Amino acid sequence: MALHHREAAPVTQVEIDLTINGENHQLVVDTRISLLDLLRERLGLTGAKKGCDHGQCGACTVLLDGRRANACLALAVAHDGSEVTTIEGLATGDQLHPLQEAFIEHDAFQCGYCTPGQICSAAGFIDELDEAVDGPLSDDLIRERMSGNICRCGAYPNIVSAIREVASARSGAAERVGGAA
Ligand code: FES
Ligand code: FES
Repeated sequence: MALHHREAAPVTQVEIDLTINGENHQLVVDTRISLLDLLRERLGLTGAKKGCDHGQCGACTVLLDGRRANACLALAVAHDGSEVTTIEGLATGDQLHPLQEAFIEHDAFQCGYCTPGQICSAAGFIDELDEAVDGPLSDDLIRERMSGNICRCGAYPNIVSAIREVASARSGAAERVGGAA
């Protein structure tokens, strides 16, 4: 019987352009690399965490063209030309993002592993409040919209408080604030 051996698939490198935290990067990448691995291993941006690497924990959440996304599920090559914001890009100079301040003030973390993803996800969530929202802003809505971000330390009550404070202060959202559940 003739033996056929399969040739290994060639590794394909392609050039992509990404704007990451306001800085343009021209990168030659393996077509199989995830955005998360590109950020962490090529660019040294280790704020986005690798929890599950399967889209189930939210630790890797970044803003991709302004929408929150699991960087572990995003193929870098599929986002040529995109804008990426990671936790490293949320502050303005020495001025922390309001969510970063609120997380500190509300003691909304313990080990901190989920925190960059929680904060990036919350930033995306608050932007979504400018769009149609199902009913008033409530703790239940925050919990539901943040359900993709797991916290193994169980810091959820304080995470919700921190997000509620920032979301409530945001113009346009304030008028939708209902009774906190
Ligand atoms: S590491 Fe991406 S969702 Fe868990
Ligand atoms: S603070 Fe430890 S996993 Fe959330």
